[in-house]
Amino acid sequence: MSAHSDSAAPSPVRLADYRPTDYLIDTVDLDFRLDATATRVVSRLRLRPNPAGRAGAPLVLDGGDLKPLRASLDNLPLDLAAVATPHRLTIANPPQRPFTLEVETELDPSSNTQLEGLYRSNGTFCTQCEAEGFRRITYYLDRPDVMAVFTTRVEAAKDEAPILLSNGNPVETGSSGPGRHYAIWHDPHPKPCYLFALVGGDLGWIEEEFTTGSGRKVKLAIYVEKGKEHRAHYAMESLIHAMRWDEFVYGREYDLDVFNIVAVSDFTMGAMENKGLNIFNDKYILAIAETATDADYAHIESVVAHEYFHNWTGNRITCRDWFQLCLKEGLTVYRDQEFSGDQRSRAVQRITDVRALRAAQFPEDAGPLAHNVRPDTYREINNFYTATVYEKGAEIIRMLRALIGHDAYHAGMALYFERFDGKAATIEDFLSCFAESSGRDLGDFAQWYAQAGTPRVKVSGAYDSEAKTYQLSLSQHIPPTPGQAEKKPLPMPIRIGLIGRDGGEIPLVQDHAQNWREEKFGVFELAGPERTIVFKNVPTPPVASVNRRFSAAVILEQQLSEDDLLLLMAHDSDPFNKWQAAQSFATRLMIRSTAAIRAGEMPAFSEKFALALADALEHYETDPAFAAQMAALPTENDLARDIGTDVDPEAIFLARKALRDGVGQLLSHRLLALYDKLQSDAPYSPDAASAGRRALRNACLDLYAAGNHADGSEIALAQFQHATNMTDKMGALSVLSRLPTPTREKALEFFYRAHCDEPLIIDKWFSLQATIPEPDTLARVKRLTKVHAFNIATPNRVYALIGAFANANPLCFNDLSGDGYQFVADLALQADGVNPQVAARLLSAFRSWRNLEARRGELAEQALRKVLDASKLSPDLRDIAQRALG
Ligand code: BES
Ligand code: ZN
Repeated sequence: MSAHSDSAAPSPVRLADYRPTDYLIDTVDLDFRLDATATRVVSRLRLRPNPAGRAGAPLVLDGGDLKPLRASLDNLPLDLAAVATPHRLTIANPPQRPFTLEVETELDPSSNTQLEGLYRSNGTFCTQCEAEGFRRITYYLDRPDVMAVFTTRVEAAKDEAPILLSNGNPVETGSSGPGRHYAIWHDPHPKPCYLFALVGGDLGWIEEEFTTGSGRKVKLAIYVEKGKEHRAHYAMESLIHAMRWDEFVYGREYDLDVFNIVAVSDFTMGAMENKGLNIFNDKYILAIAETATDADYAHIESVVAHEYFHNWTGNRITCRDWFQLCLKEGLTVYRDQEFSGDQRSRAVQRITDVRALRAAQFPEDAGPLAHNVRPDTYREINNFYTATVYEKGAEIIRMLRALIGHDAYHAGMALYFERFDGKAATIEDFLSCFAESSGRDLGDFAQWYAQAGTPRVKVSGAYDSEAKTYQLSLSQHIPPTPGQAEKKPLPMPIRIGLIGRDGGEIPLVQDHAQNWREEKFGVFELAGPERTIVFKNVPTPPVASVNRRFSAAVILEQQLSEDDLLLLMAHDSDPFNKWQAAQSFATRLMIRSTAAIRAGEMPAFSEKFALALADALEHYETDPAFAAQMAALPTENDLARDIGTDVDPEAIFLARKALRDGVGQLLSHRLLALYDKLQSDAPYSPDAASAGRRALRNACLDLYAAGNHADGSEIALAQFQHATNMTDKMGALSVLSRLPTPTREKALEFFYRAHCDEPLIIDKWFSLQATIPEPDTLARVKRLTKVHAFNIATPNRVYALIGAFANANPLCFNDLSGDGYQFVADLALQADGVNPQVAARLLSAFRSWRNLEARRGELAEQALRKVLDASKLSPDLRDIAQRALG
């Protein structure tokens, strides 16, 4: 619910209060007459009492700001004034047998700026119904456990909307009066209304035929703004790869005759998995070399796959209630991560995913917005599409699989698909399949869904040179989170390796005299508060490589010496931990520097570290994208999170700058040589290997320029001028944008002129400028909110400019004047009048305010209070402000 109201916040919804509906809906027949300002919707619902509900109970349908025109029950007109308000339709004594309810509503899609329900984007009619948007179209039991078969008729002016789409299969098209036409769609698969979709517009498209494993032919189509059809091919390829992958890895085939995707330019989220008719934010569809970066391509591949994978994990099996959101989102994120890992470098995919988890989920878990992966209460469900539900939700599936093994995992998934197909399920339902397939009690494991907070795992090792044994001790601790003081230990898989001083892997031989369970593939389970493992036949003191592949989503506390870290950086056979060793070393240096800078002393530097880094970059051959990850030092936000309390963003900025500058200076020649060596004249291809080389080359330029401003600026300018693809252009412009020279302003100006007709490219231009770490950036951002290309009603623009400033420019957002906080709070308030979900997302940039040093903490708190004191506040924004203040 997002409608503004001045009344007090509604009472929270509780998982414990779940009960089935009193009525079921078997079929829904919808009839839309599309009109820009007065769309008419007729809905015919076939209802019947739910045997699991209360007999004789009133029927209460949800409405969201609706304008009802008429209603009838079994063809007998109802007194509208008596039964309907904009927010509810109530039948006090419905028949206790099947009956038909028909209601007509009128909508104004043109004035719908919330982008929930039926709205217009660039002239195209489209819908967004998850989570509770369907009630803004017609009265309904708007909850995911009510599953019905939908038939939709759409009628519109032929010239305005030659394309008319809805869920399921096309049944019929025809003309209906002068200049008008219609299309009828039928979706045979029962579904909750949040998966309903409709599109009407004048769009271009590309199509492809896909034959499923069992020989069924499916017509795939991607609809885009006319003239942009040639930018949809990569998305189409990604879709086909995803469809094959789901057949191959999970044995899941597609189940309709058509699969349609529509790209629109006004969309609050990334994309939506509506049955047979996915609707996408166009930034996750459109890509050609000249407009999209390699990162954009990778995102397209994973978002297209994610929404497609929902067809089985989300649509065929859906959620019983919104508390179970992670049932579909966490599982589907896990599936799309594995898919991307198979398409690209597994190691890089894992590093990218863990970076994202740490950047977005760890701070959530450590601050006032902390919540369980399955929350037990919410005020506004839209605020629970969080990194915790998504990213930690995915990590839980990954840990489950590591604990029970590949075979039991897939046997459990097969059981799940078989048992719950066509149903609305819970986390308990899901886990019961794996308990059965693995023969293991998952009662303790289920706690992962019920406890907030990131576990901290302490590791220490002791070598016995007489006995040639190495003893590794693990212990876990979960700090308290709001409303959850006591925590139970969680079962977690810890993948371990031992590395000898020569860099070789030492085979793991456990001392079975001590009666341990057989451990496969180096995965050890930490189930209770602590565990000690003894390895024998260890010839020399080893370095333990712990939590390889980031097997458990925890914070590891391991005291490794600098030499240990250098050994892992050079020799760990686990690429994740090799990368982690470099990150840990850099983090240690920068945290030391942060303290030094605050004390007025010189920052720390380590030549050994810089040289080890150069070695790693030069050994790029097997996986250049991995080398590029090695080159990327922890971000300022990473450091702030690791420091944890009394955070001083300015000192952190200076500390990080000092290390980058130092590395750039010391390695000048090697970085430049590598930059030249990686130069390629081959035509652009978005494949992972080519993208990896570009990433590494741009990383070299970036570090080089940090230590060599004048020369770096010149090289970047040349790259900028000659780039034939957006990746290299942005790589160069990003370097230029960090060097305060007249060249920078000229290049930015030139870039704007070249791309001012392309909003998705202007978004890159916005983000780059919003993240310049200089004192006048706030003034620049304010100026940019006034340019024609900026529009507070378009989510992509707001995220690109304001979101980037708030989340990716910690120096300026946290400026000691407090102006950064005030600005973001003001913009959230302004956005709230247009699109409350965008406003709520902006305001979550304040989620870590309690970790700031005292003065900044006070200023951030003031900005949050100002939001709460505003006269008109959406439930979405109020909920975030209230919880953030705690
Ligand atoms: N079901 C969501 C879209 C959604 C989110 C609808 C929130 C309503 C409210 C979709 O499957 C999704 O998760 N999209 C992500 C991208 C995905 C690749 C993680 C998104 O939109 O950010
Ligand atoms: Zn999803």
